[in-house]
Amino acid sequence: MLDTERFVDIKRLASEVTSDIRHELALAVLEGLSKLPKGLPSRLFYDDKGSELFEQIMELEEYYPTRCEAEILSQQGLKITDYLVGSQQFNLVELGCGNGAKTILLLNAFIEAKKKFSYVPLDISSTAVEFIITNFKKEYGEIPFSIQGLVAEYFQGIKWLNQNIQAKNFVLFLGSNIGNFNKSIALRFLRQLWYSLNEGDFILIGFDLKKDLDVLYDAYNDSKGITKEFNFNVLARINEMLGGDFDRKQFQHQGLYNVQTGAMESYLISQNRQVVTLKELDKQFKFKPWEAIHMEYSYKYLRDDISDLAGGTGFEIVENFTDSKGYFIDSLWRAKK
Ligand code: AVI
Repeated sequence: MLDTERFVDIKRLASEVTSDIRHELALAVLEGLSKLPKGLPSRLFYDDKGSELFEQIMELEEYYPTRCEAEILSQQGLKITDYLVGSQQFNLVELGCGNGAKTILLLNAFIEAKKKFSYVPLDISSTAVEFIITNFKKEYGEIPFSIQGLVAEYFQGIKWLNQNIQAKNFVLFLGSNIGNFNKSIALRFLRQLWYSLNEGDFILIGFDLKKDLDVLYDAYNDSKGITKEFNFNVLARINEMLGGDFDRKQFQHQGLYNVQTGAMESYLISQNRQVVTLKELDKQFKFKPWEAIHMEYSYKYLRDDISDLAGGTGFEIVENFTDSKGYFIDSLWRAKK
């Protein structure tokens, strides 16, 4: 069926239960605000409002990574497809699907190169998978390839593919999402990915490179204040879901480059000595003046870091594709077994 017929299907391997989301949020907030220094996991950014704000960030002039990656995929997409030799069918698996705008650029290259593939948007959120399929329907009218949506944890989804669809995997992890992992989590994530892939499978990963600090600073402290809203939305979410009384006026947002970690780091900094109450947790959290909540790491890479990461996790670099400014790399890796 795969070779001859086009289809759009969504397979649900994991279920989302909204009460679990509140429970998970409560645990993350309890842990994050109890520890010193305080910090919240960056996954808390992405409720509906946060995802919408991130879409707006990607449109910002100052937030260069989106445009740099779009340039790479539109101008070098065909070169990327050249590495898929032969006429065999493959799964183009996208880990964590956004709005699909950049993916479409690569898909168009695969279509132009007449590659036979099934597109597999893989995400733990069924809304995200449905959203991307709806966007593709709008973009293409009739979608010119098969889509096998997967609602699952990443490695659970790849395992299901290996067991159910005999095809080479070409995995996309775009948009510098790897940058939100610290170095040891990135290593662990890539080793797990290697373990779930087969010899010769490919992965295309987006890395944001180290660059002029003013460029970095502006990208994470934009003039329209959208990144600030993106951070404050986490406090609003905590207030709403956990009965909190965070007052955003008592905090300042700042994105800073940490020369030691090589990451842009986002903080919400308390402007006063204050106490925040979260009724649902039946708990109060004390803040000293200038005490910060760490909100996000966005690690920036050197080419050497990318080679070390590939070598240390069982992959070989096939080619690094970069934009005209040399700001961003989509690195194509092959799994060695
Ligand atoms: C999703 N991630 C790669 C973005 C980044 O650049 O770290 C999230 C973001 N945070 C602030 N601006 C964009």
